[in-house]
Amino acid sequence: MKIVEAKNYEDLSKKAAALISAQVILKPNAVIGLATGSTPIGTYEQLVELYKKGYVDFSNARTVNLDEYCGLSPENDQSYRYFMNEKLLNHINIKMENTFLPDGMAKDFDKECKRYDELIDNLGGMDIQLLGIGHNGHIAFNEPSNTFPAYTNISKLGESTIEANARFFDSPSDVPTAALTVGMKAIMQAKKVLLLANGMDKKHIIEKSLYGEITPNVPASILQLHPDLTVITCFK
Ligand code: F6R
Repeated sequence: MKIVEAKNYEDLSKKAAALISAQVILKPNAVIGLATGSTPIGTYEQLVELYKKGYVDFSNARTVNLDEYCGLSPENDQSYRYFMNEKLLNHINIKMENTFLPDGMAKDFDKECKRYDELIDNLGGMDIQLLGIGHNGHIAFNEPSNTFPAYTNISKLGESTIEANARFFDSPSDVPTAALTVGMKAIMQAKKVLLLANGMDKKHIIEKSLYGEITPNVPASILQLHPDLTVITCFK
């Protein structure tokens, strides 16, 4: 495990973008696992900058997102597809058909979970997986529970997750209560994992996840077992 302490959020974002760009430079058709939430927004801004300056070419890259809310369409400005298009995908030269998220509008969510795992398998898994972390230790939307879910699953969002995400919605009752999320297999089989944690409020859960007991009560603790984990932190 490599831990990099960033000076500030901009520094964290630049370092994360540099590592993702390096991956795409070394393997132009890399499969990049992407996350949403507030933490990676700066990373996406930096990636757009690096693209505009001509340092990185995404024309052959593929992206696979971790999760999507159940019941939100790509046109809904709270959906993760909308977020990804706005923050990154519309501003780089990636082919939209090579960008993937679970379908929050699928008629049969169980089938959709299977389809998403097959898609990831067919792409050969992620070359690099970007992750944020929830205050309760969730990664993707795998909430604390008695087992580590292996496969893409329908996650009932925990109270603290709904509360944390309410800031993006008009009212907490508008926050969807379920999401489709990749499981631990897709994350742990990624060749590299890049975990970002920004803010003093993430310090405790990062310490618990990286140095505490490996337990599904702290989903991110499974990352201790990953052979190539980089964590970039900024606890300010
Ligand atoms: C988002 C995701 C979540 C977030 C986590 C942290 O795709 O899977 O696990 O990474 O909730 O969110 P922020 O960055 O908003 O603190």
